[in-house]
Amino acid sequence: MFEKYLSKTTKSMALYEHAKRVLPAGVSYGIRYFEPYPFYAAKAKGSKLYDVDGNEYVDFWLGHTALILGHSPPTVIKAVKEQLENGTHYGTSHELEIALAEQIQKMVPNAEMTRFTNSGTEANMYATRLARAYTSRSKIAKFEGGWHGGYDALHIGVKHPFNIPESAGLTAGATQDTILLPFNDLEGAKKRLKNKEIASIIIEPVLGAGGGVPAEKEFLKGLREFCDEKGILLIFDEVITGFRLASGGAQQYYDVNADITVFGKILGGGFPVGAFCGRKEIMERLDTRIYERPNYTFHGGTFTANPITMTAGLATLKILEDGRLINKLNKLGQKIRTQLREIFEANGVDVQATGAASLFNIQFTKEEVKDANAVFGADRKKLVDYHLALISNGIFFLPTHTGTLSTKHSKEDIEKLFTETEKYAKLH
Ligand SMILES: Cc1ncc(COP(=O)(O)O)c(C=O)c1O
Repeated sequence: MFEKYLSKTTKSMALYEHAKRVLPAGVSYGIRYFEPYPFYAAKAKGSKLYDVDGNEYVDFWLGHTALILGHSPPTVIKAVKEQLENGTHYGTSHELEIALAEQIQKMVPNAEMTRFTNSGTEANMYATRLARAYTSRSKIAKFEGGWHGGYDALHIGVKHPFNIPESAGLTAGATQDTILLPFNDLEGAKKRLKNKEIASIIIEPVLGAGGGVPAEKEFLKGLREFCDEKGILLIFDEVITGFRLASGGAQQYYDVNADITVFGKILGGGFPVGAFCGRKEIMERLDTRIYERPNYTFHGGTFTANPITMTAGLATLKILEDGRLINKLNKLGQKIRTQLREIFEANGVDVQATGAASLFNIQFTKEEVKDANAVFGADRKKLVDYHLALISNGIFFLPTHTGTLSTKHSKEDIEKLFTETEKYAKLH
């Protein structure tokens, strides 16, 4: 099964042998490893990734879904080059951070105030802390299959079976206040929260790592009402959905408001970023002029709001602001989900297409996929096999992960996906 890949990636194989000596598993993030070894990228442009052996890949992984404008979009690169000459990191306040916070507010009206971080993980950590501080409650809730980064309190119930700890080194104390809820099941969630005082419920409006499963609109609306009723802060983790589902993210797409919104990925325009935003009265807990210890909530970081990221983010959001490109991508996403399903069905393979907007994946199962249980219950081995077959033929998905579209994907790129999928489906 690996024959073609092995013969095309000899330099990557040598690099992998080398990398293993200094990087655990030869990678800098566990999920980037896949069998027999990952290829090592040499450059990227538009919709394409190129590896050290000179192979070209149509990239549907797009830097963990971050690159909605494709690799190195000229407008963003030009702005960043100019900023590089004016300083890479100030460690002081500057105008660009104000401009980006205002741009977020313009696109996501609920985001009255923002604080920047360097990753989605950090942003979720600070958002959780803020919710706890604001409500004076300790317990929090998240959903099965929800991935919010590696912060201890949110690092449970990501992979099936949900009762096995996600990582060694997580103390009981760090996770004992986190309640796990069933996704797309309002009554089930309410039942698990009965008689519990909780600070926040955090949700990915579309499960990303959990298989690209969208929340149902009625479920999200019900969750919003439940949070209002109980004084719970609803946190939307829009690290993937932000500026992708709509210019106003999942809140606009679903017409449901969150109390705190967390962003990452697209917001950085290709550079490291995270942000948490919310209503003024909540965010003011971070204001040292108003609150003192022990009532104020800490947030910070050496590289927060660094001018390179702020520049790239601002240039990116301005391009996305009117929603035109996003709408186009969403239509293409719908077409891809439909066509991939039809290709497999025509070849007698049972699949479900998951995803929403410009996110798409395939699950090899007959059953309807409404939560991460169904995703993990599908044939994961076959999904890896399908993605590896695509990689060997010049189409990159990080195996099992959701595919993503950028404005740089061409008709030919999409046709290639269909053609290679058809070849695979015919043989399986
Ligand atoms: C929905 C979601 N939240 C949070 C994170 C964590 O973000 P980061 O990897 O920037 O820490 C991710 C990353 O994949 C994500 O998909």
